[in-house]
Amino acid sequence: QTQTDDFVIDDDLILKIFKPRQEFVHKGTYGKSIIVGGSYGKIGAAVLATKSALRTGSGLTFVLAPDCGYEVLQTSCPEAMFIKGGENYISRIDEQENAIYGIGPGLGTEKETENALLQFLRNHQSPLVLDADALNIISQDENYLKLIPKKSIITPHPKEFDRLFGKTENSMERLDLAKKKAKELEIYIVLKDHHTQVITREDQVFYNVTGNSGLAKGGSGDILTGLITSLLAQKYSSEEAAILGVWLHGKAADLAAEKYSREAMQPTNVIDEIGNVFLYLN
Ligand code: APR
Ligand code: MG
Repeated sequence: QTQTDDFVIDDDLILKIFKPRQEFVHKGTYGKSIIVGGSYGKIGAAVLATKSALRTGSGLTFVLAPDCGYEVLQTSCPEAMFIKGGENYISRIDEQENAIYGIGPGLGTEKETENALLQFLRNHQSPLVLDADALNIISQDENYLKLIPKKSIITPHPKEFDRLFGKTENSMERLDLAKKKAKELEIYIVLKDHHTQVITREDQVFYNVTGNSGLAKGGSGDILTGLITSLLAQKYSSEEAAILGVWLHGKAADLAAEKYSREAMQPTNVIDEIGNVFLYLN
Protein backbone atom coordinates (compact mmCIF):
# COMPACT_ATOMS: atom_id res chain seq x y z
CA GLN A 1 0.00 0.00 0.00
CA THR A 2 1.32 3.41 -1.01
CA GLN A 3 1.39 6.39 1.32
CA THR A 4 -1.14 9.01 0.27
CA ASP A 5 -2.82 12.19 1.39
CA ASP A 6 -6.58 11.82 1.47
CA PHE A 7 -8.97 14.73 1.19
CA VAL A 8 -12.73 15.15 1.12
CA ILE A 9 -13.92 17.55 -1.57
CA ASP A 10 -15.83 20.09 0.52
CA ASP A 11 -17.20 23.58 -0.15
CA ASP A 12 -14.02 25.21 1.16
CA LEU A 13 -11.86 23.38 -1.34
CA ILE A 14 -14.30 24.10 -4.17
CA LEU A 15 -14.40 27.82 -3.36
CA LYS A 16 -10.60 27.89 -3.51
CA ILE A 17 -10.62 26.27 -6.96
CA PHE A 18 -13.64 28.02 -8.51
CA LYS A 19 -12.90 31.19 -10.52
CA PRO A 20 -15.97 33.39 -11.13
CA ARG A 21 -16.33 34.51 -14.72
CA GLN A 22 -14.65 37.82 -15.38
CA GLU A 23 -16.43 40.76 -16.95
CA PHE A 24 -14.04 42.06 -19.61
CA VAL A 25 -13.75 38.90 -21.61
CA HIS A 26 -14.68 37.43 -24.97
CA LYS A 27 -15.34 33.87 -26.03
CA GLY A 28 -11.63 33.26 -26.66
CA THR A 29 -10.93 33.77 -22.96
CA TYR A 30 -12.89 30.68 -22.08
CA GLY A 31 -11.34 28.20 -24.42
CA LYS A 32 -12.37 25.67 -27.01
CA SER A 33 -13.84 22.29 -26.16
CA ILE A 34 -14.13 19.52 -28.70
CA ILE A 35 -16.35 16.60 -27.79
CA VAL A 36 -15.59 13.51 -29.83
CA GLY A 37 -18.22 10.80 -29.54
CA GLY A 38 -21.47 9.33 -30.76
CA SER A 39 -22.10 6.51 -33.17
CA TYR A 40 -25.23 5.08 -34.75
CA GLY A 41 -27.66 4.46 -31.86
CA LYS A 42 -25.46 6.32 -29.36
CA ILE A 43 -25.61 9.88 -30.67
CA GLY A 44 -27.34 10.78 -27.40
CA ALA A 45 -24.07 10.30 -25.54
CA ALA A 46 -22.46 13.01 -27.70
CA VAL A 47 -25.50 15.25 -27.20
CA LEU A 48 -25.28 14.96 -23.41
CA ALA A 49 -21.52 15.58 -23.29
CA THR A 50 -21.82 18.56 -25.65
CA LYS A 51 -24.72 20.14 -23.76
CA SER A 52 -22.83 19.71 -20.57
CA ALA A 53 -19.68 21.35 -21.99
CA LEU A 54 -21.82 24.28 -23.17
CA ARG A 55 -23.53 24.68 -19.81
CA THR A 56 -20.22 24.64 -17.97
CA GLY A 57 -19.08 27.74 -19.81
CA SER A 58 -16.63 26.78 -22.51
CA GLY A 59 -16.08 29.74 -24.89
CA LEU A 60 -16.44 27.69 -28.06
CA THR A 61 -17.75 24.16 -28.19
CA PHE A 62 -17.34 21.76 -31.10
CA VAL A 63 -18.65 18.26 -31.50
CA LEU A 64 -16.97 15.78 -33.78
CA ALA A 65 -19.39 12.99 -34.62
CA PRO A 66 -20.38 10.77 -37.53
CA ASP A 67 -22.71 12.06 -40.23
CA CYS A 68 -25.73 10.25 -38.83
CA GLY A 69 -25.55 12.59 -35.84
CA TYR A 70 -25.52 15.81 -37.83
CA GLU A 71 -29.20 16.75 -37.64
CA VAL A 72 -29.83 15.75 -34.08
CA LEU A 73 -26.69 17.49 -32.83
CA GLN A 74 -27.31 20.71 -34.74
CA THR A 75 -30.90 20.74 -33.51
CA SER A 76 -30.35 19.81 -29.88
CA CYS A 77 -27.11 21.77 -29.43
CA PRO A 78 -27.33 24.73 -31.83
CA GLU A 79 -24.61 26.57 -29.89
CA ALA A 80 -22.07 23.90 -30.76
CA MET A 81 -20.30 23.59 -34.11
CA PHE A 82 -20.46 20.24 -35.82
CA ILE A 83 -17.29 18.68 -37.20
CA LYS A 84 -18.01 15.92 -39.65
CA GLY A 85 -16.42 12.63 -38.70
CA GLY A 86 -16.80 11.19 -42.21
CA GLU A 87 -16.61 7.58 -43.30
CA ASN A 88 -13.71 6.74 -41.11
CA TYR A 89 -15.29 8.62 -38.29
CA ILE A 90 -12.62 10.29 -36.22
CA SER A 91 -9.98 10.08 -38.91
CA ARG A 92 -10.85 13.68 -39.67
CA ILE A 93 -9.98 14.81 -36.18
CA ASP A 94 -8.09 18.04 -36.69
CA GLU A 95 -5.59 19.64 -34.39
CA GLN A 96 -7.50 22.76 -33.43
CA GLU A 97 -5.10 25.11 -31.80
CA ASN A 98 -5.39 25.16 -28.02
CA ALA A 99 -8.56 23.10 -28.09
CA ILE A 100 -9.25 20.61 -25.34
CA TYR A 101 -10.56 17.25 -26.44
CA GLY A 102 -13.06 15.11 -24.53
CA ILE A 103 -13.16 11.78 -26.31
CA GLY A 104 -15.26 8.69 -25.82
CA PRO A 105 -18.97 8.98 -25.00
CA GLY A 106 -20.85 6.68 -27.38
CA LEU A 107 -17.78 6.57 -29.61
CA GLY A 108 -17.98 2.89 -30.55
CA THR A 109 -15.02 0.57 -30.92
CA GLU A 110 -15.01 -0.11 -34.67
CA LYS A 111 -11.61 -0.85 -36.17
CA GLU A 112 -11.54 2.45 -38.10
CA THR A 113 -12.41 4.37 -34.95
CA GLU A 114 -9.71 2.54 -33.06
CA ASN A 115 -7.08 3.31 -35.71
CA ALA A 116 -8.10 6.95 -35.88
CA LEU A 117 -7.98 7.39 -32.13
CA LEU A 118 -4.57 5.76 -31.82
CA GLN A 119 -3.22 7.83 -34.70
CA PHE A 120 -4.57 10.97 -33.06
CA LEU A 121 -3.01 10.12 -29.70
CA ARG A 122 0.37 9.45 -31.30
CA ASN A 123 0.39 13.04 -32.55
CA HIS A 124 -1.20 14.78 -29.61
CA GLN A 125 0.73 15.89 -26.55
CA SER A 126 -1.50 18.19 -24.55
CA PRO A 127 -3.82 17.01 -21.76
CA LEU A 128 -7.26 15.72 -22.71
CA VAL A 129 -10.20 13.82 -21.25
CA LEU A 130 -10.71 10.17 -22.12
CA ASP A 131 -13.85 8.22 -21.22
CA ALA A 132 -15.99 5.23 -22.14
CA ASP A 133 -15.16 3.71 -25.56
CA ALA A 134 -11.92 5.70 -25.84
CA LEU A 135 -10.82 3.82 -22.72
CA ASN A 136 -12.18 0.55 -24.07
CA ILE A 137 -10.06 1.00 -27.20
CA ILE A 138 -6.97 1.79 -25.15
CA SER A 139 -7.66 -1.32 -23.03
CA GLN A 140 -6.92 -3.57 -25.97
CA ASP A 141 -3.14 -3.32 -25.71
CA GLU A 142 -0.95 -2.46 -22.74
CA ASN A 143 1.28 -0.30 -24.95
CA TYR A 144 -1.62 2.00 -25.81
CA LEU A 145 -1.65 3.30 -22.25
CA LYS A 146 1.62 5.08 -22.95
CA LEU A 147 -0.09 7.11 -25.68
CA ILE A 148 -2.18 8.99 -23.12
CA PRO A 149 -0.72 12.51 -22.91
CA LYS A 150 0.73 13.47 -19.53
CA LYS A 151 -1.67 15.32 -17.20
CA SER A 152 -4.68 13.91 -19.04
CA ILE A 153 -7.78 12.91 -17.12
CA ILE A 154 -9.36 9.51 -17.56
CA THR A 155 -12.84 8.82 -16.18
CA PRO A 156 -13.40 5.06 -15.94
CA HIS A 157 -16.24 3.35 -14.08
CA PRO A 158 -15.08 0.22 -12.21
CA LYS A 159 -15.50 -2.10 -15.21
CA GLU A 160 -13.65 0.24 -17.54
CA PHE A 161 -10.94 0.57 -14.92
CA ASP A 162 -10.52 -3.20 -14.71
CA ARG A 163 -10.40 -3.48 -18.49
CA LEU A 164 -7.65 -0.87 -18.58
CA PHE A 165 -5.46 -2.03 -15.74
CA GLY A 166 -6.47 -5.60 -14.93
CA LYS A 167 -9.04 -7.24 -12.72
CA THR A 168 -9.33 -5.98 -9.13
CA GLU A 169 -11.42 -7.67 -6.45
CA ASN A 170 -12.75 -4.68 -4.53
CA SER A 171 -12.67 -0.91 -4.28
CA MET A 172 -9.61 -0.88 -1.97
CA GLU A 173 -7.58 -2.91 -4.43
CA ARG A 174 -8.81 -0.73 -7.26
CA LEU A 175 -7.78 2.44 -5.44
CA ASP A 176 -4.30 1.09 -4.76
CA LEU A 177 -3.81 0.16 -8.38
CA ALA A 178 -5.18 3.54 -9.48
CA LYS A 179 -2.60 5.35 -7.31
CA LYS A 180 0.18 3.31 -8.88
CA LYS A 181 -1.03 3.90 -12.44
CA ALA A 182 -1.70 7.62 -11.99
CA LYS A 183 1.90 8.03 -10.86
CA GLU A 184 3.39 5.75 -13.48
CA LEU A 185 1.49 7.28 -16.41
CA GLU A 186 1.50 10.81 -14.97
CA ILE A 187 -2.25 11.17 -15.37
CA TYR A 188 -5.28 11.93 -13.22
CA ILE A 189 -7.74 9.11 -12.67
CA VAL A 190 -11.36 9.86 -11.89
CA LEU A 191 -12.53 6.56 -10.50
CA LYS A 192 -16.29 6.81 -10.83
CA ASP A 193 -18.49 5.17 -8.25
CA HIS A 194 -21.01 5.97 -5.54
CA HIS A 195 -18.28 8.11 -3.99
CA THR A 196 -16.06 9.05 -6.91
CA GLN A 197 -12.35 9.41 -6.22
CA VAL A 198 -9.90 11.69 -7.99
CA ILE A 199 -6.42 10.18 -7.89
CA THR A 200 -3.58 12.55 -8.69
CA ARG A 201 -0.10 11.96 -10.05
CA GLU A 202 1.24 13.18 -6.71
CA ASP A 203 -0.21 10.45 -4.48
CA GLN A 204 -3.27 12.35 -3.39
CA VAL A 205 -6.83 11.06 -3.30
CA PHE A 206 -9.81 13.42 -3.31
CA TYR A 207 -13.17 11.89 -2.31
CA ASN A 208 -16.33 13.35 -3.73
CA VAL A 209 -19.43 13.32 -1.54
CA THR A 210 -21.95 15.06 -3.78
CA GLY A 211 -24.23 13.01 -6.02
CA ASN A 212 -26.86 10.36 -5.45
CA SER A 213 -28.30 7.16 -6.85
CA GLY A 214 -30.40 9.13 -9.33
CA LEU A 215 -27.14 9.22 -11.31
CA ALA A 216 -27.17 5.45 -11.66
CA LYS A 217 -28.59 5.75 -15.18
CA GLY A 218 -27.08 5.57 -18.66
CA GLY A 219 -25.93 9.00 -19.74
CA SER A 220 -24.75 10.33 -16.36
CA GLY A 221 -21.13 9.60 -17.19
CA ASP A 222 -21.32 11.46 -20.50
CA ILE A 223 -22.25 14.62 -18.62
CA LEU A 224 -19.16 14.36 -16.45
CA THR A 225 -16.95 14.09 -19.55
CA GLY A 226 -18.43 17.30 -20.98
CA LEU A 227 -18.07 19.09 -17.67
CA ILE A 228 -14.42 18.25 -17.12
CA THR A 229 -13.51 18.97 -20.77
CA SER A 230 -15.14 22.37 -20.51
CA LEU A 231 -13.31 23.23 -17.26
CA LEU A 232 -9.99 22.15 -18.74
CA ALA A 233 -10.67 24.34 -21.79
CA GLN A 234 -11.28 27.26 -19.41
CA LYS A 235 -7.73 26.85 -18.13
CA TYR A 236 -8.37 25.13 -14.86
CA SER A 237 -5.46 22.78 -14.22
CA SER A 238 -6.12 19.08 -14.77
CA GLU A 239 -6.31 18.49 -11.04
CA GLU A 240 -8.71 21.41 -10.52
CA ALA A 241 -10.88 20.43 -13.49
CA ALA A 242 -11.22 16.86 -12.22
CA ILE A 243 -12.06 17.89 -8.65
CA LEU A 244 -14.41 20.73 -9.55
CA GLY A 245 -15.96 18.57 -12.28
CA VAL A 246 -16.96 15.66 -10.07
CA TRP A 247 -18.24 17.99 -7.37
CA LEU A 248 -20.35 20.08 -9.82
CA HIS A 249 -21.74 16.91 -11.41
CA GLY A 250 -22.84 15.51 -8.06
CA LYS A 251 -24.19 18.83 -6.80
CA ALA A 252 -26.26 19.32 -9.98
CA ALA A 253 -27.58 15.78 -9.51
CA ASP A 254 -28.57 16.58 -5.92
CA LEU A 255 -30.56 19.60 -7.09
CA ALA A 256 -32.19 17.50 -9.82
CA ALA A 257 -33.15 14.85 -7.25
CA GLU A 258 -34.83 17.46 -5.05
CA LYS A 259 -36.98 18.56 -7.97
CA TYR A 260 -37.72 15.29 -9.72
CA SER A 261 -36.81 12.45 -7.27
CA ARG A 262 -33.87 10.11 -7.62
CA GLU A 263 -36.11 7.69 -9.47
CA ALA A 264 -37.43 10.01 -12.15
CA MET A 265 -34.56 12.46 -12.64
CA GLN A 266 -32.87 12.22 -16.03
CA PRO A 267 -29.32 13.13 -17.06
CA THR A 268 -30.84 16.04 -19.00
CA ASN A 269 -32.25 17.39 -15.72
CA VAL A 270 -28.74 17.23 -14.24
CA ILE A 271 -27.42 19.38 -17.10
CA ASP A 272 -30.24 21.85 -16.48
CA GLU A 273 -29.17 22.23 -12.83
CA ILE A 274 -25.52 23.08 -13.61
CA GLY A 275 -26.51 26.76 -13.78
CA ASN A 276 -27.98 26.67 -10.29
CA VAL A 277 -24.77 25.19 -8.95
CA PHE A 278 -22.83 28.11 -10.45
CA LEU A 279 -25.31 30.51 -8.83
CA TYR A 280 -24.64 28.76 -5.51
CA LEU A 281 -20.89 29.24 -6.01
CA ASN A 282 -21.18 32.86 -7.10
N1 APR B 1 -24.31 7.53 -6.32
C1 APR B 1 -23.62 8.57 -6.79
N2 APR B 1 -23.15 8.68 -8.05
C2 APR B 1 -23.41 7.68 -8.90
C3 APR B 1 -24.14 6.53 -8.49
C4 APR B 1 -24.59 6.47 -7.13
N3 APR B 1 -25.30 5.45 -6.66
N4 APR B 1 -24.23 5.70 -9.55
C5 APR B 1 -23.60 6.29 -10.57
N5 APR B 1 -23.09 7.48 -10.19
C6 APR B 1 -22.32 8.41 -11.02
C7 APR B 1 -20.91 7.92 -11.22
O1 APR B 1 -20.06 8.42 -10.22
C8 APR B 1 -20.58 8.50 -12.59
O2 APR B 1 -20.17 9.83 -12.50
O3 APR B 1 -22.89 8.48 -12.31
C9 APR B 1 -21.91 8.42 -13.33
C10 APR B 1 -22.06 7.13 -14.14
O4 APR B 1 -21.11 7.10 -15.16
P1 APR B 1 -20.92 5.79 -16.10
O5 APR B 1 -20.79 4.60 -15.24
O6 APR B 1 -19.85 6.13 -17.05
O7 APR B 1 -22.33 5.68 -16.80
P2 APR B 1 -22.77 6.06 -18.29
O8 APR B 1 -21.61 6.07 -19.20
O9 APR B 1 -23.57 7.28 -18.26
O10 APR B 1 -23.72 4.85 -18.65
C11 APR B 1 -23.33 3.53 -18.57
O11 APR B 1 -21.32 2.71 -19.49
O12 APR B 1 -20.67 0.52 -19.02
C12 APR B 1 -20.99 1.43 -20.02
O13 APR B 1 -21.83 0.87 -22.09
C13 APR B 1 -22.19 0.93 -20.74
O14 APR B 1 -23.88 2.35 -21.69
C14 APR B 1 -23.30 1.93 -20.50
C15 APR B 1 -22.65 3.08 -19.84
MG1 MG C 1 -19.66 5.94 -19.10
